[in-house]
Amino acid sequence: MEDSKRHYVDHTPYSSAGLIIRQKEPKNLETPFDRLDSYLTPTELFYIRSHFPTPNLDAASYRLRIGGAVGRPLSLSYEELRNMRSETRIATLECAGNSRVFLVPQVQGAQWGLGAAGNAEWTGVPLRALLESADLADDACEIVLEGADRGMPQGEPRPCDPISYVWSVPRAKALQPEVLIAYQMNGQDLPLDHGFPVRAIVPGHYGMASVKWLTSIEAVREPFHGYWQTTDYAYWASMNGKPVRRALGEMQLKSEIARPRVYETIPPNRIYTIYGAAWTGETNVTDVAVSTDGGRTWADAEFLDPVQRYAWRRWKFDWQTPKEPGQYTLLARAKDASGALQSNEHDHHYGVYVINHALPIEVFVDDTESPLCNAGPPSSKCEEWVRVWRANP
Ligand code: MTE
Repeated sequence: MEDSKRHYVDHTPYSSAGLIIRQKEPKNLETPFDRLDSYLTPTELFYIRSHFPTPNLDAASYRLRIGGAVGRPLSLSYEELRNMRSETRIATLECAGNSRVFLVPQVQGAQWGLGAAGNAEWTGVPLRALLESADLADDACEIVLEGADRGMPQGEPRPCDPISYVWSVPRAKALQPEVLIAYQMNGQDLPLDHGFPVRAIVPGHYGMASVKWLTSIEAVREPFHGYWQTTDYAYWASMNGKPVRRALGEMQLKSEIARPRVYETIPPNRIYTIYGAAWTGETNVTDVAVSTDGGRTWADAEFLDPVQRYAWRRWKFDWQTPKEPGQYTLLARAKDASGALQSNEHDHHYGVYVINHALPIEVFVDDTESPLCNAGPPSSKCEEWVRVWRANP
């Protein structure tokens, strides 16, 4: 057989379902969350959230500078970093704008659905070890992480000149053992879009803290008020009754339903297994409850994964679907180790971020079979769409 033909018939299952495009350039691509089939999100299915075009850094000439309020500034090559003692940790990343599409009325920003979140295994050097080698000053209060990407931010107000992507992590968090300066994801070198050659991983904090294409770590003695954490990823807190702008930080308790999908049609009077995942910031998820009647009644879901701090727990719930066809609203609500429950409403102080309330998933229960709709359960709704489409293609 000719080579070109052989290539044409090659069905090697590369991955995958692919990603959902939210913005072409810079790359903002979402995981199809209904493909939640494994504890670790496969790298090729992991969402990509980038503010600027992806910088192409050369590992051979790469340097990581560690400076500012330190006694011994360092400049490490990629190889030197890789030769240091490493750790491997599992952590869930969620973009603070995940689920924005659920906000009504619609708000500005990428319309993320459920899949700007993923769980991966990260390998790298603890930030703490690097700061200790550099002899971190006692009075340094934050650690400023800077990436190599640059450009003009899209939101308003915006700075006058192009800026880089920079985020500061409070000293106390930066010194925790889980914070990594990572060079591997799921056992492979970081892909370009996920920060090659080196990125930060700040488990328990929203994804914006996990700076990709990391080139500089700078300890500072004054709180850092950079663009990203004052103008973009910030919220309104209250200080003595007065609103103050604060940087987002810890991820908030959240559970998402992966299957069924919004407007999926499900057969009546059967057991349908609802799947999802739940995660939080600096504590553990202890319970997930599911409602199939729009929040009137709740029943406990069963966990598929054990408690592991900073990693999500997948869960399932066997739903005895109703006999009556109709539209039903599914909800999932997590509880954490402190007894706190996931909220029912979006907290407007967070603006277009931290969308962690129980998200309604509307589905249809219907039993009409359709030979044309072979993806998913049979559906008369689907047949109806095909009819409408044929009439108005
Ligand atoms: N780091 C740099 N240098 N530039 C970026 O645009 N985006 C941040 C963070 N780190 C970003 C970055 C945001 S908002 C998120 S949610 C995560 O990277 C996403 O990481 P991922 O693309 O590997 O999923």
